[in-house]
Amino acid sequence: MALVVAGGLAAGMARAQSGSQTQFPWMDTSLSPDQRAGLVLKEMTLDEKIRMMHGQGSPFGGPVSPNAWMSNGGDGFSLGVPRLGIPNLQMIGSAYGVRFSAANGRYSTALPANLAQTATWDPGAACAYGALIGREERAQGYNMSLAGGVDLARELRNGRNFEYHGEDPILAGVMVGNRVRCEQEQHILSELKHYAVNDQESGRGIVNSVIDRRALRETDLLAFEIGNQIGRPWAIMCAYNGVNGDYACENKYILDEVLKKEWGFQGFVLSDWGGTHSTVKASAAGLDMEQPDERFYGAAMKKAVLDGKVPMAELDDHVRRILRAEFGSGIIDNPTRKFVVNVDEGFAVARRLAGESMVLLRNEHRLLPLDAGTVKSIAVIGEHADVGMISGGGSAQVDPEGSYAPAWENPAHVWFPTSPLKAIAARAPRARVKFQYGADLPAAAALARNSQVAIVFAHQWTSEAMDLPSLSLPGDQDKLIETVAAANPNTIVVLETGTAVTMPWVNRVSGIVEAWYAGSRGAEAVADVLFGDVNPSARLPITFPVSEADMPHPTMTVPSPEILKEEKAGKKGPLFDVDYSEGLKVGYKWYDAEKKPVLFPFGFGLSYTTYSYSGLSVTRGNGATDALTATFRVKNTGSRAGTEIAEVYASLPAAAGEPPSRLVGWSRVTLKPGETRQVTVAIPAMYLSVFDVAAEKWKLLPGGYILRAGRSSRDLPLQSGLTLP
Ligand code: BGC
Repeated sequence: MALVVAGGLAAGMARAQSGSQTQFPWMDTSLSPDQRAGLVLKEMTLDEKIRMMHGQGSPFGGPVSPNAWMSNGGDGFSLGVPRLGIPNLQMIGSAYGVRFSAANGRYSTALPANLAQTATWDPGAACAYGALIGREERAQGYNMSLAGGVDLARELRNGRNFEYHGEDPILAGVMVGNRVRCEQEQHILSELKHYAVNDQESGRGIVNSVIDRRALRETDLLAFEIGNQIGRPWAIMCAYNGVNGDYACENKYILDEVLKKEWGFQGFVLSDWGGTHSTVKASAAGLDMEQPDERFYGAAMKKAVLDGKVPMAELDDHVRRILRAEFGSGIIDNPTRKFVVNVDEGFAVARRLAGESMVLLRNEHRLLPLDAGTVKSIAVIGEHADVGMISGGGSAQVDPEGSYAPAWENPAHVWFPTSPLKAIAARAPRARVKFQYGADLPAAAALARNSQVAIVFAHQWTSEAMDLPSLSLPGDQDKLIETVAAANPNTIVVLETGTAVTMPWVNRVSGIVEAWYAGSRGAEAVADVLFGDVNPSARLPITFPVSEADMPHPTMTVPSPEILKEEKAGKKGPLFDVDYSEGLKVGYKWYDAEKKPVLFPFGFGLSYTTYSYSGLSVTRGNGATDALTATFRVKNTGSRAGTEIAEVYASLPAAAGEPPSRLVGWSRVTLKPGETRQVTVAIPAMYLSVFDVAAEKWKLLPGGYILRAGRSSRDLPLQSGLTLP
């Protein structure tokens, strides 16, 4: 069992030496991270340098390092330099909570999925999310987080969309940036991943994402660019896939030219687990660290350096970046110390963020919120809705607190023990609340018929290393919903999904709540929304299309059996192309440009109150950073307090050749009944710019800009324009 706490040894040395004559000069916190890194680097031997540049094996198999005893039990770790006070890096997957707590006998809060967090459109919620995870990582002895997934939901069937931040690069970048910023404030070295265009899981290790350079910069890379600006992550994980021919982890354009040179990224690049493909090429392209082992960055790296194939200056740059990140993130000055996390605080944050993330998609005849004082009988229907709610799988999987909910599916679906049935019964103590699993359709219909309200809990499980065959709810759930809706007009569907779903029954039910993967207190949060303790404010971060046929890629490109054979035979990839020919038209930009109807548009979400918008004026921004400022009024015209997310979209001058409209800003405004507020949205120049490929930079074009404000990408009552010189 690993007993060494990350940084423990280093901390001991630093403490022992502080105040004495022999205190390490790089422990002087008045120096910059770069200066401190430079001082350490000078003292290091070649072997010590190389040791920092690779992992020590992974818990998922492969060669076991003799250093495995130093692992903190996470996804991987790399060695520091104890004699110089440099700690080991203990890395843990923490997309929506700290993983492996069951295996290590520890405890973690499961927050709502990253996509859910994005649905809050609340940078403050993203910050609370990152801060909580950061605290729990440190409590468990980790100093580095593997999270911050921000590949765009360009392909809605991607099994990892729940780990990502939606389809819009600006929304995604702002939300992930704030999560990382606040996670790192806890003295955790955090990252963004999977850089870049890891937009499907099928054949992820051999697929080549083909995308023209302008689209690359304005879509997937823009999310990373904004996330990097706001979050200042000290690490970036390069992806498994290729990007325009070269594997992401040996892609000079995205790693060296864009990330390091153009964006000025000061931290280090680590490979996704097993995503390193070479020594010399990867090193020259800008890969600083191989994970989780040392196939290319161990003995092979030493040989390449001694043979002069990897210049010493290049090697030093890799190591300097790792050291700089360790000083910059504060993990050297603030070594971890294990402690017991505040479980109640975790539950409270999980419940609040889940409530804030649930999107009210439909509410006919104002069936919702339910009135606990008058509702007489409620049917709760759906697989496991008596015991739990589903979570997203793969390396993001967090272990549920308490006992495991039933997980007999293969691969295992983990249902968090957060029971909708119990939460609803607790909130409506005077009602008769009964449960049906849903497999027996006549029984479900009978219960629905004999109840005042029927609530169907429907789920779609997704995970890393798989994509969905379609956006239909799996199994017979569509049939179940149709059956229940036919038996009771007061049918409400609660969706537990990791991406969009199609809804052939949409017009036959009265209410729909998108609850996503709702985390450790999901059921309580669902009850908060159903009974109106929370007035829904969340908005869709992805478009829900009518059918797969409307999507940019009606079917996915997956590797053929021949390609899979080549992969097995060890042929060097990438081995097949996915052509993202829709280019700039990701998500709503596609449906808008192609004039396609959608089921629910990007940015959509209802409330229990109503709002009106008026008086949009557009003025020039401060010039330095903000190009334009939109000012308008929002009024709460209903009878309940609520939080409105006022969205602002822009149409660029025709010469820009852009999709019809793009999100450029938003503001969350909390209003009492009848209250009116003036809302000001400052719009950075970059959000209005196009990427000029020839000049390799963002350009704010002259010409007429039209701004629109409203409640979703397809409900924008206000419009005003301004011409930029
Ligand atoms: C995933 C990464 C993760 C790593 C370590 C890989 O399979 O793609 O996102 O951080 O495993 O668990």
